[in-house]
Amino acid sequence: MSSLDAEHYLLDVKLRRDRVPSFDVYPFCLPAVKNLGTLKLHPKVTFIVGENGSGKSTLLEAIATSWGFNPEGGTKNFNFGTRRSHSELHEALTLVKGIKRAKDGFFLRAESFFNVATEIENLGVGDSYGGRSLHEQSHGESFFAVMTNRFGGNGLYILDEPEAALSPSRQLAMLVRMHELIAKNSQFIIATHSPILMAYPDADIYQIGESGLVRTAYEETEHFLVTKAFLGNPKRQLALLLE
Ligand SMILES: Nc1ncnc2c1ncn2[C@@H]1O[C@H](COP(=O)(O)OP(=O)(O)O)[C@@H](O)[C@H]1O
Ligand SMILES: [Mg+2]
Repeated sequence: MSSLDAEHYLLDVKLRRDRVPSFDVYPFCLPAVKNLGTLKLHPKVTFIVGENGSGKSTLLEAIATSWGFNPEGGTKNFNFGTRRSHSELHEALTLVKGIKRAKDGFFLRAESFFNVATEIENLGVGDSYGGRSLHEQSHGESFFAVMTNRFGGNGLYILDEPEAALSPSRQLAMLVRMHELIAKNSQFIIATHSPILMAYPDADIYQIGESGLVRTAYEETEHFLVTKAFLGNPKRQLALLLE
């Protein structure tokens, strides 16, 4: 590895197999976990893609928890909790960190963003989010406001399906915002189904299959192929599906 490569915050995620109680039970039975050795993270953006239920959220949550984020989302300073405890996967993970320390960070879980927004407002910093309460904005608007106003650069950002709330135009705007933050030494780890987001050029994509995480070229991801085939000829695709 060159010294340049070590400029990012999170270099590798390793599964300590000796710490796994059993590969027959959740979360260790998931293909994404069972076959995990060392996951090498891209200095700028690492995408994790795969079917619903393939283990993206489980993996992201464990990485985020090991990093020190609240498992429910937010920054390292957020320690509210409203849901059941997270999986024990983080106890079996080792994070290999770079030399440089991250100054900022955020863990976004789509399903608990509402609670994170409440916490942001409880901390009395709501005014900096575009001047409007996050709860008075739509889900997409409030997430975008957080990314624009709260993400400051020099950070590690772990985002679980950030596209869930975003229109296609907002996803394009998100690519622009990501690009700005990357220019300010940020690193992203993103689980996504969005063929728009995963098109970010300077990135690695890992697709989860039966054999675990496999690095896959953008044009070979299922998301790209299915979307392209569909949009290339919606009528024909629908006729095939609905015949
Ligand atoms: N607490 C749990 N106990 C048992 N199984 C779980 C638990 N949480 C999630 N799972 C299962 O683990 C699988 C992976 O879930 P998840 O990581 O949320 O997938 P993804 O984010 O890729 O859609 C799913 O089949 C889900 O039902
Ligand atoms: Mg998920």
